[in-house]
Amino acid sequence: MLDIFKFKKDTIKEKIQLDMERIPAHIAIIMDGNGRWAKQRKLPRTMGHRAGMKNIKMMVEESSNLGVKYLTLYAFSTENWKRTKEEVGALMDLVVEFINKEFEELHRNNVKLNSIGDISKLPEKSKAAVEDAMYKTRNNTGLTLNIALNYGGRDEIVKGVKEIAKEVLEGKLQIDNIDDKIISDHLYTSGMPDPDIIIRPSGELRLSNYLLWQSAYSEFWFSNINWPDFTKEDLRRAISDFQKRDRRFGGV
Ligand code: FPP
Repeated sequence: MLDIFKFKKDTIKEKIQLDMERIPAHIAIIMDGNGRWAKQRKLPRTMGHRAGMKNIKMMVEESSNLGVKYLTLYAFSTENWKRTKEEVGALMDLVVEFINKEFEELHRNNVKLNSIGDISKLPEKSKAAVEDAMYKTRNNTGLTLNIALNYGGRDEIVKGVKEIAKEVLEGKLQIDNIDDKIISDHLYTSGMPDPDIIIRPSGELRLSNYLLWQSAYSEFWFSNINWPDFTKEDLRRAISDFQKRDRRFGGV
């Protein structure tokens, strides 16, 4: 498996042609449909998550080859704690497994691993694995892989508002100086461009508390395919459709 994870630009010979001058800088994906993928195969839900985890490597490879700068994946939301203890535990273990299996290759390919969300609430071994990978790849200059873990858009905005309020109380910031940029700078994605496109497979047509502030002008792309079945070609199809959209950002 590992040897297919080569970041060679000259291996891009897929059917769907893309305008390489207009590749989205930031792609965000809601990795949905793992449970249904497993159910269709009479497997436990956790096997669906494992299949979903295995799909990440290919998406990172393709995104990196195409020159995408940021890939943000929704792995665990602030609401996902409501799932059974077994499923939550399996997801947390998969985070560790993913890092153990893929770290070397990601690092070798200049990928910067980052997390968005409140990872302080994660089990110690998951938190430690994420922090270690973030630290070791902090100077990498290739694709930034943001893994959303215990992430919620509302939670993120609350966190940002509290920080801003504190700065105002301490006299470091004037209320009149609070603007879009100040708010963006207090989110987990501070310093990153907003997602150009948000992809949600599995047929659900909602945002589910994902990147609420950052998605103001994102293009949305939905498909019925469950995440474990989502292929490179699907990603290219999403980018191709994105390239046909007329983004006006409120202008004419
Ligand atoms: C949503 O599908 C998926 C999740 C809540 C978890 C996504 C996690 C992974 C793909 C693997 C772990 C991630 C890393 C970074 C190693 P669902 O379970 O809600 O699917 P369903 O709607 O079909 O039940």
